[in-house]
Amino acid sequence: MRIGVFDSGVGGLTVLHALLRQLPAADYIYLGDTARLPYGSKSQATIARYAVSSAHFLVEEQGAEFLVIACNTASALALEAIKAAVPVPVLGVVETGANAAKSASQTGDVLVIATAATVQSHAYSLACRERGLRAYEKACPLLVPLVEEGWIEHPVTREVLRIYLAELQQEAAQAQMCADTLVLGCTHYPLLRKEIERVTPSLKVLDSADVTAQQVAAALQGSRVQGAGERRFFATDSTEKFRKMGERFLGSPMGGVTLVDLGG
Ligand code: DGL
Repeated sequence: MRIGVFDSGVGGLTVLHALLRQLPAADYIYLGDTARLPYGSKSQATIARYAVSSAHFLVEEQGAEFLVIACNTASALALEAIKAAVPVPVLGVVETGANAAKSASQTGDVLVIATAATVQSHAYSLACRERGLRAYEKACPLLVPLVEEGWIEHPVTREVLRIYLAELQQEAAQAQMCADTLVLGCTHYPLLRKEIERVTPSLKVLDSADVTAQQVAAALQGSRVQGAGERRFFATDSTEKFRKMGERFLGSPMGGVTLVDLGG
C-alpha cells in the first residue's frame, strides 16, 4: 500500500508523523508544494489548480493508491476537484478535524482557527453543522509566515497569538457561543500548540493529525497495508529548506528530498 500525503508545505508532515505511528508498514510519498505556498491567501480556482496538479503527481507519477490531503486549505476548497481528478480514495483533514471536534466537544460549540481561504470557504462550519455542532471560525493569516520563519517560541509570535485568541474569544462570546473546543484548522498551527494551550486554558485544543491517521487506518481495514517501508519526500522549491524545517514537523530525520517542477 502506497499512501500519498499532500500539503502546500511542510505542515502536513505532522499528519505523516501520525500515519507513521498508526500504519508503519505502508509506503509513503510526501509532496510539499513549497514553490506555490501559501495556498491560504489564494483564490479557490488557483488552490484547486495547484492541488489537482499535486494530486496527479502523487497518483500518476508516483503510484499513490490512497491520498491524504493534509492541507486544510486544499481540503476546504479543492477536495471535490481532487476527488474528481484521481481514481483513488481521497481523505481531507477538514472532515477528520470536524470528527475530532464532534468527539471532544461537550457543549457542541467549537472554535476554529485557520487560513483566510479556509475561513472564507466556511468548510469547517459546514462540516461541523453536519455533525450537529456550531463553529465560529477566525482567520489568523500572520501565523503561517511566523512558523515558516521558525519563530515558534518567539515573543512576536506569542504576542500575535495572544491578540488573535483574545479577539476570537471575544467575537465568539458576542455570537453567544459557549465553546469548549478549539480546532487548529491549519497544518502549521500544531507547532504553536503549547503557546495556544497556555493562552486558552479553558479550551480543548485539537489538531487533525491523529484522528486523520486513525481514519486512514479504518478506511484501509481489509487492505494489505504492507509495503517496503519506503518514505519519499518531494518539494517544489528548495529541498534544503524543506528538509531543515520539515524535520521539526516530522520529529525525525528525513533523509533525501527530491525537487519536482509542477509548473506555475
Ligand atoms: N497548509 C495550509 C493549511 O493547512 C497552510 C499553509 C498555506 O497557506 O499554504 O491551511
